Amino acid sequence: MRRDLPFSPAAERNKDPILTVLESVLPAEGTVLEIASGTGQHVCFFAQALPSIQWQPTEPDDSSREAMAIRIREARLDNVYEPLALDVSQPRWPVADHYDAILCINMIHISPWSATHALLRGAARHLSAAGRLILYGPYFENGEAAQSNRDFDASLKQRNPEWGLRELEDVTRVAATHSLQRQQVVRMPANNLTLVFSRSI
Ligand SMILES: C[S@@+](CC[C@H](N)C(=O)[O-])C[C@H]1O[C@@H](n2cnc3c(N)ncnc32)[C@H](O)[C@@H]1O
Repeated sequence: MRRDLPFSPAAERNKDPILTVLESVLPAEGTVLEIASGTGQHVCFFAQALPSIQWQPTEPDDSSREAMAIRIREARLDNVYEPLALDVSQPRWPVADHYDAILCINMIHISPWSATHALLRGAARHLSAAGRLILYGPYFENGEAAQSNRDFDASLKQRNPEWGLRELEDVTRVAATHSLQRQQVVRMPANNLTLVFSRSI
């Protein structure tokens, strides 16, 4: 692996615990759309661990996407498609019609609240009937959060007043307006959560 590719220590730390959740949620075979793939560390790791799943990474930032494409090529994985340019706020997502799962790791708090609305709206449109939306990140729960997450929230808001940790129930409520029902809240290391949503019938 080239040493000059962008590297996320957080992705390296959280990839194993997230994989454990994916193994329990994803079907044996299928397609997963990843939103905000960043460096591509997650998609490479998950694709290697779950070779019967086809993975479609996406990322709006051109330079991140180009570096991710190199990482994927170097990993020689035949179950990862070329990363696509996708900002969730685009009215039409340039992806396939339906996926068995849509995965989004650590984007919701590092984007305006309107991006969460757009993510949930687009996910509802692109999930298959039995599909699952899987969100990973830190959240407030009834206004409460661990001190480390409160500090993180303050630092995010300093960088951009529109960023910050979201309230779990707000995300759940907006998801429900798009017919996405929260199925699971999985407690993860370092005060993060994995949320699993399914399409309501
Ligand atoms: C903290 S990084 C997380 C990257 C990767 N998922 C990870 O966990 O390593 C936040 C990512 O969200 C992406 N992002 C921010 N706003 C977005 C939007 N409106 N649509 C799609 N991705 C967005 C950024 O480009 C960046 O890759």
